[in-house]
Order: sequence, then C-alpha cells, then structure tokens
Amino acid sequence: MHDIVSILFGVAGLLVLLGFLQAVAGRLNVPYTVLLAGAGVALGLLAGVLAQIGGPGPFADFWRAISEFNLPAEAYLYLFLPLLLFEMALAIEVRRLLDDLAPILLLAVGAVLVSTFVVGAALAPFTDVGLIACLLVGAILATTDPVAVVGIFRDLGAPRRLAMLIEGESLFNDAAAIVLFTLLYGMLAGDRPADIPQALLAFVWSFGGGIAVGLVMGRLLCVLVTPLRDLPMAEISLTVAFAYLSFIVAQHYAEVSGVVAVVVTALVVSALGRTRISPRTWDGLEQVWKQLGFWASSFVFLLAAMKVPPILLDAEASDLLLGGVLVVAALVARAVVCFGLLPLLTWAGLAHKVSYAFKTVILWGGLRGAVSLALALAIPEDPNVAEEVQDFVAVLATGYVLFTLLVQGTTLKPLIHLLRLDRLSAAQVAIRNRALALALTQVQEHIEVVAWHEGIDLDIAHRATRQYGEKLDAIGRDLVAGCVLEEKDRLFTGLVILINHEESLYRSHFREGIVSRVIVETLITRVGWLYDGARAEGRAGYEAASERATGFTQRMIWAQRIQQRLGLDWPLARRLSVRFEALLVTCMVLRELQDFCRHKLAALLSEATARTLGEVLETRGKVAEKALAALRQHYPDYAQLLEHQYLSRVALRREEAEYEGLRAESLIGQEILNDLKGDLERRRAAVEHPPPLELGLLPAQLVSRVPIFAGLGEDRLGAIARQLRGRLALPDEMLIQRGERGDAMFFICAGTVDVRVPGLATPIHLGSGEFFGEMALLSRQPRNADVRAIGYCHLLELSEADFRRLIEQDQELRGHILATARERKLTLDHLEGGV
Ligand code: CMP
Repeated sequence: MHDIVSILFGVAGLLVLLGFLQAVAGRLNVPYTVLLAGAGVALGLLAGVLAQIGGPGPFADFWRAISEFNLPAEAYLYLFLPLLLFEMALAIEVRRLLDDLAPILLLAVGAVLVSTFVVGAALAPFTDVGLIACLLVGAILATTDPVAVVGIFRDLGAPRRLAMLIEGESLFNDAAAIVLFTLLYGMLAGDRPADIPQALLAFVWSFGGGIAVGLVMGRLLCVLVTPLRDLPMAEISLTVAFAYLSFIVAQHYAEVSGVVAVVVTALVVSALGRTRISPRTWDGLEQVWKQLGFWASSFVFLLAAMKVPPILLDAEASDLLLGGVLVVAALVARAVVCFGLLPLLTWAGLAHKVSYAFKTVILWGGLRGAVSLALALAIPEDPNVAEEVQDFVAVLATGYVLFTLLVQGTTLKPLIHLLRLDRLSAAQVAIRNRALALALTQVQEHIEVVAWHEGIDLDIAHRATRQYGEKLDAIGRDLVAGCVLEEKDRLFTGLVILINHEESLYRSHFREGIVSRVIVETLITRVGWLYDGARAEGRAGYEAASERATGFTQRMIWAQRIQQRLGLDWPLARRLSVRFEALLVTCMVLRELQDFCRHKLAALLSEATARTLGEVLETRGKVAEKALAALRQHYPDYAQLLEHQYLSRVALRREEAEYEGLRAESLIGQEILNDLKGDLERRRAAVEHPPPLELGLLPAQLVSRVPIFAGLGEDRLGAIARQLRGRLALPDEMLIQRGERGDAMFFICAGTVDVRVPGLATPIHLGSGEFFGEMALLSRQPRNADVRAIGYCHLLELSEADFRRLIEQDQELRGHILATARERKLTLDHLEGGV
C-alpha cells in the first residue's frame, strides 16, 4: 500500500476508535483519558503481534499501518502542543484569571520548580544517568492536566476562585515546565552548560520573551481579524494559523518559549478577540477548537500509550524501584505545593482557605496528561542524548503518566466519596425534598386537569399519578424525621439560588443579543465574587461582595491615573462606558431577581426567607441605582444613547422571535426567513457596540464655564486653556488631604465637592464655577482642609508654576482669587478663635 494511503488508513481507523471510546467512557463512568491510555496500551500490544502475522486484506493492512505509524518525535512538540495549549487557554475566562494572576503564576512556577527539584533529587541517588536527566523527568512530570480536577470541582460546587486557581495553575505550569524542559534538554544534549544561575536567567528570559511575543501576536491577530468580520471560516482559520505562527515566531525567530507565546496569544484572543470576532463566529470557533484540542490530546494519548508496551517490556527490575521512588517523590512534591505553597498564598491573602479534604483531592487529582506524554516522546529519538538516558526518561515518564491515569484517575471518585465531599448536606437534602414536593404536586394537579379535559376517568388519572403520591408521602415522612431547614441554612441556600439565577439571566440576555459579551463577562466575574462571599460568610459575605461589585475597579483607577498623568482619555472613557452599561444591566437583572424571589423562592424556602432575600436584593439595587444615577446625571446624553441602544436590541430580539414564530407556523419559508434575518443581522451589528463616550475634558471647552475667566478675550482665554489640564474626579474621590503640600489648584466646571474644614460640623459644598486648593499655593502652607468629590466632577487643574505665572500676568484674576482666599481664611480664623 502507498505510504500516504497507509497513514490515512491508520488515522481513519483511530478516529473511529476515538469516537467509540468516548461513548464507552461515558457508559463505564471512567475518565475518557484513562480509557484512552488503556486502549492505547492494548493497541500497542495487539499491533505488535498482529502486524507480525501479516497477510493481505484491509484488516492486516490496518494493523500494519498502525504498527508502522512512526511520527518523528518533534511532531509531538510542533504539531500537537500548540493546538493543545491554544485550546486550553482559549477556554479560560481571562478576566477572572487576571484577577488572580499573581497567585496563579506563583503557584504555577513554584509547583514546577518544586516538582523538578524534589523528583530530580529523589531519583539521582538511585541511578547513574546524572542529575540533569533526573531533573528532566521532574520537569516533564511537573505539568498537571486540569480536566479531571476542574471537572470534579465544578460538580462539587467548590469555591470558584479555587477552581480558577487550579485551572490557571495547570495552564501556566505547562508553559513553565516546557520552558524548563527545553533548558534541561539543551544541557543534556550538550548545547548549553550546566550552570544553575545561568539556567535560571535563561528560564526567566525565555518565559518573559514568550509572553512578549504572545502579546504582540495576539494583538496582531485581533487587528487582522477585524476586516474578516462575519466570515466565520476565515476568522477561525486565522486563529488556527496563529496558534502555529506564534509558536514558530517565538521558538525560531525570537528564540524564546514558543508554548508561552501560544498560551498568551490565545489569552489575548479570548480577552480582546471576543469583541472583534463576530458573536456567532465565536460559538463556532469554540466548537472548532474543542474538536482540534480533542484530536490533539487523543492522538497524543493513543500514540504515546501505544509505545508503552515495547518501552515497558524493555524495563528492568531496577526500573521498578525507580518507579516506586518516582511515585513517592512526585506525590511529595505535589503535597509540598498543596500543603505548603497554597496555605502560604492563603496566609498572604492571595487565595481562599482550602479545606484539607479539597487539598487531598488536588493532591491525588494531579493527573499527568497529554503534555507530559508529548514531552516524554520528544526525548527518545535524539541522537545527541545517550541511549541509556533516553530509556531512563522514556520509561519513567510514560510509566508515571500511566500510573496517575490508571491508579489515581480511577480512585479519585472513591476518594471524594470517602472524604464525604460528594454528600448532600442536611440542608441540601431538605431543599431537594422541598423542590421535589413542589414539582410532584404540580405534576399531580396537571395530570388531573389533562384527564378532565380529555374526558378520561379520574380513577385512571389517580392510578397514573400513584407513584408521585407515594414519593410525596415519603418526602413528608423525611420532613417529619428532621430534615428541616434552619433559617440560616435557608438564607444561605436562597442566596446561592439567587446567585445561580443571576448568572443564568446574564447568559440568556447575552444569547438574545441584548447584552454584549464584554459586559456579560464582567458581570459574571462579579457573580463569582458574590458566590465566594456567600460561601465564606453567608449574607455578610454576599453584601460585602456586592459592595465591591459596584465600587470602582482597580482598572478604573489605573485608567484615571493614565488620563491625569498622560492626558490619554480613551482608557477612562472605555471603563466608564463599560461601567455605565454594566450598571444598567445589573439594575435590570436585579428587578427580575426580585420577581423571581417573590414568586419562586417563597414557595421553595419560606415567606420569611424570601422577604429577607428581597431586602438583600433591594439594598443592592439601591446602591446600583445610586451609582447609575450619578453617572446619568453627569453624562445625560450618553445615558440616553445607551438606553436607546438597549431598547433597540430588545426590539431586534423581539423581531427575530416574531420571524421565527412565523416560520414555525409555516407562514413563511426558510428563504424568506434567511432574507429577513440577514437584514436583521446588519441592524444588529450597528447596535452591538456601545458608542464611544466623550469625556468632555478639553480645557478649551471647559474654561468658558469658569466665571472668573468670563471677561477675558479669546486669545487670553486660549493661552490660559493651554496651561490647564482637564480631569475627571470619581464620586467620593479624595482630591485634597489636609496637611499635604499643595502643588496645584482646581476649578470646578461641573459637579460638586465637599470641603471639610476642621471645627465645622457640616462640610462646605463648592459647585460649578468655583475653585479650591488656592490657599496652600498663596500661603505656601500645607493644605488646610480635606476636599472630596461628591459625584463625578469635571475639574481644570492648574499647576503651581502656572498658577504663579498666571496671577503675575493677570492682576484682576489675582485680585479675585486673593479676595476669595481671604474670605475663606476669615472663616478658618473665626473657627479657630471659637475653639
Ligand atoms: P488649600 O489649603 O490649598 O486646600 C484645601 C482647600 O479647601 C483650600 O485651599 C481652599 O481652597 C478650600 N477651603 C478651605 N477653607 C474653605 C472655606 N471656608 N470655604 C471654602 N473653601 C475652603
């Protein structure tokens, strides 16, 4: 058979196998990768035997094709790794990742270094292949596969921040481990000297360089994809191309880490690309990437596992001892991370407190997967590495991966059961019973109504619903037997239900095209805070988290600083516009939640609990409404624009539903529907993104709002405007603190500030047209009062040097400012005298 045909035949056969293995895994309730590894080993054994028998016919051809399947070792690195990593990174919620980037990076890099050194040091005394080869095994096995643990975490409802930490860790530890692997491999092959400080420096350089290349490539992809909007095939192709391009550019041209570059490119696409790539394409894109990732990891698993029988058959008794040492060392390394590093992060306030049961699950659930195998397979065929070393690494690494899959993977669920992590708490049982009781009663009633409608004898209806009646009786007995909810548990359960419902409301508004993806992601991140808060401290935690959710984010503060220092408006404008829309949607969803609480939760929990929950929602609603009102007051035109856009989106959604209704009733055909939808999509694209927000901070426009500049001629006004800097103050922002050195004064163009003078019970309000901060400049004394913005304020800032120049040039202005300052001084003196 022709080579190509033979390869294709083998691949096609394996694809059939993959499909069925997935189905079997579901049936047997075993992790897919575990079954895959098992199947791979079996296939390797069978192929070896059956290919020998030979003979004509497709069956023999297939086995021959499989046994001759010999991918070059580098193919694993170049062909599969970029796909695997790109897919993993694309699926991550970048906003949540960024929230916890520091602990994630610390944990990832820390875990990789710990694993490499613990495993390396443990193996070295038992073999004579040298420390570097031992360290290499440690680095290969430092990568953990997140799928198993994260999946289990989701099922068990673990804190979301913890799940993110573990998911993020496993993504970056892949990257870090591969960087370390490349370095150690270079040392082993004799390309680089074995010098620890130099190696560490190279590690940092390679990792940092990878990040830089990834950022550039990710950005470039976002730029290139913009003109391809609404061409799904082209958009998706570009992302696939860039997975490989960033790998190659980083690895070959920049000589930094290719995998780190791929991961970062995918993260940039996930964060920014979502707004550039059309929403409909995004779903397809995720699907395509899931498929590619599935193929890549499945093939790596199968092909690697197939190589195991010959490798393990070559193994000697001494390898068994080494294997035992390796298992213990790798577990110890992971234990150091779980029980040493993680608590350290908790102690530093960077991570949640994690219970021992969860830590044990993280320890035992640290399965090694496709990445470890791909790395292990890249070793054996290098001519520069001694054969003895090649065997050593290949046997140990593949053996250990199989151990984690076949032993840890199959015992993880029993362990969780043993630790009672999968038990429903008494509160959950009580809730389940109430929910069942509600649903079953409804079913019984419904059946009776149907029977009555259809003229069926009521006796038959009763017979049909007998099992429901029996279940209801059993639940009644359970309730009497003590599965009754305490008020505290009821409230907690109610909060969790509300949080989950809030998230599903955001998602459904997004699917309907009413809320944009950026906003939905921001809001869902905040729902995560609410969830973690409620889990940790119940109602108080929920309230604290909701306060944080309406507060100003760190990004807003940074954007404001950038505006002030560099005069760059757009980051702040963008953040404000996101805040505007997010608040608008939050208020809307909170109203929906109130309804939900009244109508559904009262029946499930109790009237009293629903009332308390209603109060919690109301308080939250008031805070959000207030924050929205402050923005609306300052940017009324923009508020109207956003509201108009929101209504247009709702109208479009309604229109679409109408068309689909007509189609469902066969009143219009598919062609007409397509035509109508095409037009709808065009109009939807026009209202998809919020219009840019004009901050309105141009000094030339603002200066005319200050009365003391009113009489000046145009030239003079222009000259003054050039010395002033526009600035937006956020509500509650401290503008001046008493006792500070003064370096500027401010004119208020819009908004109000509070001046808190010591000794005066109520603060003095200064409004539009007034100024403050002049006294410290005139007297060269420290600031004499605290000044705080009440709502949003447009200010014009005049630096000390410009202030002196200005009052020197303009006597009238000087007189005016001096007079006001003198008056203020009188108040101060008067107060001091009074005290
Ligand atoms: P400065 O001392 O530079 O910083 C605090 C500012 O508060 C001060 O300048 C004045 O601009 C303002 N301030 C102090 N006292 C009063 C007052 N009685 N009425 C209005 N503004 C005041």
